[in-house]
This record gives sequence, structure tokens and C-alpha cells, in this order.
Amino acid sequence: MHVVQSTPAASKMATYRQLHEQMSALFVGERNGLANAANMSALLYEALPNLNWVGFYFLEGRELVLGPFQGKVACVRIALGQGVCGTAAEGRETVVVPDVHAFPGHIACDAASRSEIVVPLIQNGRLLGVLDLDSPQLARFDHEDRAGLITAVDLLLLHTDFTRIADAAA
Ligand code: SME
Repeated sequence: MHVVQSTPAASKMATYRQLHEQMSALFVGERNGLANAANMSALLYEALPNLNWVGFYFLEGRELVLGPFQGKVACVRIALGQGVCGTAAEGRETVVVPDVHAFPGHIACDAASRSEIVVPLIQNGRLLGVLDLDSPQLARFDHEDRAGLITAVDLLLLHTDFTRIADAAA
């Protein structure tokens, strides 16, 4: 399968546009939450430059539990309100951290990580988990990444049934 590769010539927005088209094609006819999240993490890891971790955490009670990912072995459980992931989940807001060392309570899974973005997964008003991306580069994620990744999560949620892999907090 052809996977979009970002090149210096391609603008960030063009890369995200291609990524969104590719995701829509990938999800047609498939609503399995584990399969779609796994393919999405692989696609993002390959298509976006300067990443060292991409993956999902799904809500189980008051904790986020590790889901499909690409990158090094990661911590398995994160309490709501803890770290960047728990903060984004609890606040139901995308969190962009330009320097993880300056974020109080940041949970370091890979010592190489320097910046991070976490997008909450909210379907029909219910919190299901988060998408987390880490980079070894300081301030890797800007407003274009924020918008591109929120749209990517929206596409995933539109096409996918998560009832068997995540609790949902109303
Ligand atoms: N840094 C995250 C933990 C997850 S790993 O980056 C994969 C956090 O502070 O929540």
C-alpha cells in the first residue's frame, strides 16, 4: 500500500490533506476500533516527520490504558488528570506541549521526547481516550499540526465503533 511521505517540498497542510484522504480510504467498510486505531498510528508515524512515538490510550474507569502505537515500549496506565495525556483527557481539550521538561507532571516514557501533542477522543459527547504524538524535536507541533490532527481524530471517530475497547465517560 502506498503511504504518503512528507517531503520538504510538500507544505504541512498538503501533507495533512493527503493524510486525511488516505485515512478515509483506509476506514471505508471497516468500523473495528482496534484495527482502525492500529492502522492510524502506523499511518501517522510513517507520514509525519520527526516523531518518536504515536499511539492511543483508551479510557477504562478513571484510567487511560495503552492501545495501539508505534515507537518504544510505553507506560500502560495513566490516571485522568495525570501527565499530558491525563490532562488532555480530563479537560477534553487538545494539549500542545512545546517543551515537555517545562510541563509539570509530564510522564517520560521515552527519554528522547522533547515535545508532545495530545488530542482527546470524544464521540457523541463521551470521552473514549486520547491520541498522543511525541517528538524528539523541541516545539515540533504548531497550529497546523493541531488542526490536522484534530481533523484526523474526527475522521477516525466518524468511521469507527469503539464500544468494545473503551469505556465512555459522559
Ligand atoms: N508523555 C505522556 C505519557 C505517554 S508517552 O509519551 C507515550 C504523558 O505525559 O501523559
